Amino acid sequence: MKLLLKGGRIIDPSQNIDAEMDLLIENGKIAKMGRDLSASENNSTTVETLDLRNALIVPGLIDMHTHLREPGHEYKETIQTGSEAAVAGGFTSIACMPNTNPINDNRSVTDFILKQAGICNMANVYPIAAISKMSEGKILSEFGDLKDAGAVAFSDDGNPVTNSRLMRNALEYAHPLDMTVISHCEVLDLSTGGTMNEGSVSTELGLQGIPNVAESIMVERDIALADYTNTSVHIAHVSTAESVRAIRAAKARGVHVTAETAPHYFTLTDEALREFSTNAKVYPPLRNMKDVESIKEGLKDGTIDVIASDHAPHSSIEKDVEFEYAASGINGLETSLSLSLKLVDDDILTFHQLIEKMSTNPARILKINKGTLTIGSDADLTIIDTQKSWTVNVNIFRSKSKNSPFQGWKLKGKAIMTIVGGEIKYKET
Ligand code: DOR
Ligand code: ZN
Repeated sequence: MKLLLKGGRIIDPSQNIDAEMDLLIENGKIAKMGRDLSASENNSTTVETLDLRNALIVPGLIDMHTHLREPGHEYKETIQTGSEAAVAGGFTSIACMPNTNPINDNRSVTDFILKQAGICNMANVYPIAAISKMSEGKILSEFGDLKDAGAVAFSDDGNPVTNSRLMRNALEYAHPLDMTVISHCEVLDLSTGGTMNEGSVSTELGLQGIPNVAESIMVERDIALADYTNTSVHIAHVSTAESVRAIRAAKARGVHVTAETAPHYFTLTDEALREFSTNAKVYPPLRNMKDVESIKEGLKDGTIDVIASDHAPHSSIEKDVEFEYAASGINGLETSLSLSLKLVDDDILTFHQLIEKMSTNPARILKINKGTLTIGSDADLTIIDTQKSWTVNVNIFRSKSKNSPFQGWKLKGKAIMTIVGGEIKYKET
C-alpha cells in the first residue's frame, strides 16, 4: 500500500526542510519526497493520493509526558483511549509516566504496557519507568532490566526524588545506559498542604499556596547534580520564572540539562482558579503573568526544549469535589497542539521551532528513532490545518476523562490527519 501526500508544506526541522513538496509513503516508511511526484509514475494502482494543499506536513508529534492510567486506574484512561486521544490530538508517539497501579518499577509492568499498546495498534507508546521502587524515593529500581524491557527513560513523576543521594545515583546509573532521568521538581517541605500558586489570588481565596521556590530549589539541585556527575537531566513541567532563569544559566555554562513545559503554563494563570475550578488544579500550579511571560521567553530562546501535554486524566469522582480534595491534573492530549500553535500566531515561535519542541527534541531526549521525515524512516506524520477554527468540547474527547479547563474555548489550528507507520490512524471528518 502506498500513500501519496500532494501539495502540502513540509516542515522537518531534523533536515532543515521547509518547502512545498509531495511525499510518498511505501510499506510504512517515507519512500520519496520531491516536487510533482505522481501516482502513475510509481506505476501502481494501489496508490492512495491525498490532496493536502494549504496543510502542514510535519514529523509525527511526540508527547514525552503522558499519564495513561493503565494498569490500575482504567476508569480514568486506558492505553486504548489514551492512544486514541493522542492521535486525535496529532501525536503519533507518547511516552507514559509510571505512576500507575502497580507503578511501572519492574519489567512485568513495562511488558504489559507494551503488549497492550501493541494490541491497540494506534499510537507508538514508550513506557517511562520509575526511578525508585514504588516511586517512594528509597531504593533504585532495576535500570538495566527496565531498559532491556523497553523503558525509554526514568522518572518518579507525581513525586519528587527528595533524597539527593538517590537522585545522584539515578543520574550515575542512567548515564552509561544512555537513558534520561526526568525530574518532577517539588520540595515537599514547601508544597505540602498547598493547593494552588502562592500569591495574591491564593490570599484572596483563602487557599494555602505553593511558592515558586518549591519548584526552583529542586531545579537548581538537579542542575548541580547533573553538573557534578557530568550526566544529563530533563526537568519536567517547568512553571516558574526562577526555574527558567536557572536552566538558562546552566545551559550557558554547558550543563547537560533539558526542559519541558506544558501548554497550560503559557496559556493560563492562577486567575483561572477564581471560581474554584478544579479542572485548573494541577501540579505544579498555574502561576502568575510574570511566570507565563518567562515561560514564553524560555521557549523562544531555546531554554525550554520541549512542549509536553502532561496529559493527566481524572474522572469526575476526583474532580467534582471541594477544591482542596480535588486531584491535580489537566487533560491535555486533544488541546495541546492548538494551544501551542497560538505561540506561532503570536510570533513567539516559528513553525520550525514549534515542531522542534513537539517532535525533533523529544525524540532526541528520549533517544528514540522518531521525529524525522528522512527517507527510510517510519512514516509517522501529522497533518495540520493551521487555520481551522474549532471549539473545545470535552464531551467528544477520545480521552475517557473530561477534566479540561479549556472547555468551550475557541481555538485555531488542528491536526486533521495523523499517520502512524504509514497508516491513517486519525482523520478529521
Ligand atoms: O497535576 C499533576 N498530575 N501533576 C503531576 O505531577 C502528576 C499528575 C497526575 O498523575 O495526575
Ligand atoms: Zn510531575
